[in-house]
Amino acid sequence: MTLTDAHGRTVDDLRISVVDRCNLRCTYCMPAEGLPWLDRSDILSFEELERLTRVFVDLGVKTVRLTGGEPLVRKDFPVLAGMLAGIDGIEDLSVTTNGVLLERDAAKLVAAGIDRFNVSLDSLHHERFHQLTRRDDLHRVLRGLQTLGAQPGVGTIKVNCVALRGVTEHEVIDFADLARREPYEVRFIEFMPLDADRNWTPDDVLTGEEIRQIIHATYPLTDPERPAHATAKVCHFLDGKGRVGFINPVSEPFCSDCNRLRLTADGRLRTCLFSQRETDLRAPMREGASDDELGTLIQDAVWRKELKHHVGEPGFVPPPRSMSQIGG
Ligand code: GTP
Ligand code: 5AD
Ligand code: SF4
Repeated sequence: MTLTDAHGRTVDDLRISVVDRCNLRCTYCMPAEGLPWLDRSDILSFEELERLTRVFVDLGVKTVRLTGGEPLVRKDFPVLAGMLAGIDGIEDLSVTTNGVLLERDAAKLVAAGIDRFNVSLDSLHHERFHQLTRRDDLHRVLRGLQTLGAQPGVGTIKVNCVALRGVTEHEVIDFADLARREPYEVRFIEFMPLDADRNWTPDDVLTGEEIRQIIHATYPLTDPERPAHATAKVCHFLDGKGRVGFINPVSEPFCSDCNRLRLTADGRLRTCLFSQRETDLRAPMREGASDDELGTLIQDAVWRKELKHHVGEPGFVPPPRSMSQIGG
């Protein structure tokens, strides 16, 4: 089966937020005091997540990414990873994590069947990391990356760096050096208006093209290429020593071939990161809906998937929930 929308796009990628909480407090995402967290009973149980994921896969979803908040703070997350890895028809099961708990969990997650890991890391300098995340945990993330990299069978680790004007410029070459030294694909992400504080302005966006030029001046790069449905344009270093990626949703939206869906930790289906509308799957599921009935709800929502986001256009309104509540 395939899931399609009214704009002719096939939707086969699902991002599942498994918890809304996080153990960091990145300034561009959350206030220092955190957010009003969901109650435990609001969050989908492992059994509910497994069931819903099966329904999505039966409808045509092929790739699944687990996010948060921070997914590794969900109790027994590796057990959930194993349950989802057991679902026939998932071709690629991945995790996006801030890395703080990877030293503890990397081996368990690989054993559970996670195929790929993306690790968020916005600064390589202790003080700046502490300022940005409000936690002094850089050493833990770096140890987490080492532990993960040492696991047999782990493919290329992607390192996600949200680019903030006035901050990231100082570290672009350090991140390029990291991408040349380690088997990581370092990707710079343009800052999007999904911060809980609603402080985003277009001036904060350090574009991918600006960063590409800074790197290119020191380490020449190949022309960028973006595979179908990918978030990132990838450039290789001309001397063959690794690669970097640029995720440019603000300056160069990739909505026209978007294949994504999102499931929030409380069981709402979102058809766009910037959706104003959510489809509740939890209530019908808890009230006894059959798989077919849930499938119809999903198909109807997907059909109405937004054509594109309107960031930067006059009248743009950010979604009611912020990134960590939606799922990154
Ligand atoms: P790969 O499959 O490994 O390339 O992962 P990915 O880039 O799809 O996932 P990841 O969680 O690493 O996403 C990186 C960042 O890209 C996210 O944090 C978002 O900032 C951005 N992003 C991901 N999906 C979307 C999307 O559908 N729309 C927009 N505008 N941005 C997205
Ligand atoms: N804009 C861009 N990326 C963001 N992330 C969190 N908030 C934003 C934002 N406002 C990133 C995290 C992580 C991923 C899940 O989303 O840093 O890499
Ligand atoms: Fe897809 Fe919406 Fe992201 Fe555009 S903004 S790529 S339509 S999820």
